[in-house]
Amino acid sequence: MSMEGRTCVITGSARGIGRGIAEHLGSEGANVVVNYRSSEEAAQEAVDTVEAAGGNAVTAQADVSDREAVEHLREVCHEAFGPADVLVNNAGITADKQFTEMSREEWDRVMDVNLGGMFNCTQAFYDDIWNAEEGRLINISSIVGKQGNFGQANYAAAKSGMFGFTRTIALEFAQGGSTANCVAPGFTRTDMVEDVPDEVLDRIISGIPLERLAEVEDIAAVVRFLASEKSSYVTGEVIDVNGGMDL
Ligand code: NAI
Repeated sequence: MSMEGRTCVITGSARGIGRGIAEHLGSEGANVVVNYRSSEEAAQEAVDTVEAAGGNAVTAQADVSDREAVEHLREVCHEAFGPADVLVNNAGITADKQFTEMSREEWDRVMDVNLGGMFNCTQAFYDDIWNAEEGRLINISSIVGKQGNFGQANYAAAKSGMFGFTRTIALEFAQGGSTANCVAPGFTRTDMVEDVPDEVLDRIISGIPLERLAEVEDIAAVVRFLASEKSSYVTGEVIDVNGGMDL
């Protein structure tokens, strides 16, 4: 199995895209750290699924926007499996409002989790990935970071901020042979899009050349490639997984 013995930390992986990534990597034999903020039961279910698929997994509670909590995440990883080979910064939130209605608190909250969480986790696992053979940093951005989206000025700013961060870390890591890339999903069927009204979803789907939303597996399959040793000459890139939305 291609991920056998590789230790992967995936933030926000109790559900949604993160969970799909955990299951995909787990089914390839990876050691997976399932990070969650509050849903312990869901995180444990994710661990059970990974183990049933042939991987090893542990849960680790941590709010990624809290640097001390992220230290705990690192300790859990080190105790269970040793240093990480792969970090997937997947945890993310939205707080949508048309810009004139958006509060500074809603701006800060989205920055704290999406960018602050990426900062905290990347710093905590930087040395691990640098020192790993074929270390990998994978940041889950969004098509919204490229195109913008009505009512998502905070989220779009955070998601496009991930691009510049990733390219910079890619340059730093290159000297040690590790890589850093972004995956930019299009609209994906998870809890995050559950509240989007059907008529809006229909409008979104009508603008997607492949005529459907992404499934979690579509995103996880690309992350799995980037996490593997097969992607060793890909770095500093943004890989779009959006059904052709930006064609
Ligand atoms: P989701 O809401 O189902 O899952 C996000 C996960 O992150 C949840 O498990 C949540 O508990 C966790 N999380 C949130 N704040 C956290 C924190 N402070 N600390 C630790 N964990 C935290 O969302 P989904 O759809 O699975 O999104 C995953 C990533 O993919 C996010 O970064 C999102 O922005 C991105 N994305 C999602 C798209 C979609 O259409 N669903 C499209 C493009 C990007």
